[in-house]
Amino acid sequence: MTSTMQNFQDKAVSLAREAGQYQRSMIWKPFNVEYKGEIDLVTEVDKKSEELIVKGLAKAFPGHDFLAEENLYPDRKASHKWIIDPLDGTTNFTHGFPWFAVSIALEVGGEVVLGVIYHTMMDEMFTAVRGEGAWLNGSPIGASIRSPLRCSLLATGFPYDSATDRENNFAHFANFQMGGRGIRRAGAAALDLAYVAAGRLDGFWESKLKPWDVAAGQLLVSEAGGRVTGFAGEPYSVYNNRIVASNGRIHDEMLEMLVKPVPLQAICGQMKL
Ligand code: IPD
Ligand code: CA
Ligand code: CA
Repeated sequence: MTSTMQNFQDKAVSLAREAGQYQRSMIWKPFNVEYKGEIDLVTEVDKKSEELIVKGLAKAFPGHDFLAEENLYPDRKASHKWIIDPLDGTTNFTHGFPWFAVSIALEVGGEVVLGVIYHTMMDEMFTAVRGEGAWLNGSPIGASIRSPLRCSLLATGFPYDSATDRENNFAHFANFQMGGRGIRRAGAAALDLAYVAAGRLDGFWESKLKPWDVAAGQLLVSEAGGRVTGFAGEPYSVYNNRIVASNGRIHDEMLEMLVKPVPLQAICGQMKL
């Protein structure tokens, strides 16, 4: 790794750890919560974490741009842009459910080159550098070798507007539940991706995600030997809001699932009417 990249990584890792420690100290204490939408929450801990991370990076790397969840930052058309989710898993955090992460990525010239995800409550630091690999607490990690889909453990999430929008993931969820071994919906997309990278999950899909949810995680998966695409198998960009990330071996089966109609017959057949 170049010394410049090492410097970027060291700073991102230390700020992710600092924000994570703050979050760990706050999760079961009272804190202020506001509504961004009917069920979409933001806490003072999200906001303070973002401030801590952005201030720290801006001090170390003046002139870099920022794209982060809780604030708008000036677009200076800089070659370097930090993409930050200060607290991925806000609903979990608000309810005291200890499953959330800090996600920090660096995009250079439009390409994500560095990804850092800190799994706060487990004290696990996931890192990836484009072309160099992916690590967990400094040791290399790789995607699983599991296949087929029927024997695979998957993860997904549902958009905040799933009650009112047709693109709610319910049909895909039903198909994958019947076609795979099981689905986890733990509530932090960044961790779902980090877990695919570490071989703890075999595949993940979700729509309506934002760049800060996925920027670091998608790099982790590719650098861990997995595959990341859009729903139609197209090359992935963090600005594409539909993502499929897998160990590679079950990817084509996952893409096939995403074009299947929901087997209503099968679901209704099991319901007591
Ligand atoms: C959310 C989480 C969740 C996913 C949502 C995201 P937030 O991020 O990643 O798993 O299903 O779509 O918006 O709001 O907790 O940062
Ligand atoms: Ca998020
Ligand atoms: Ca967030």
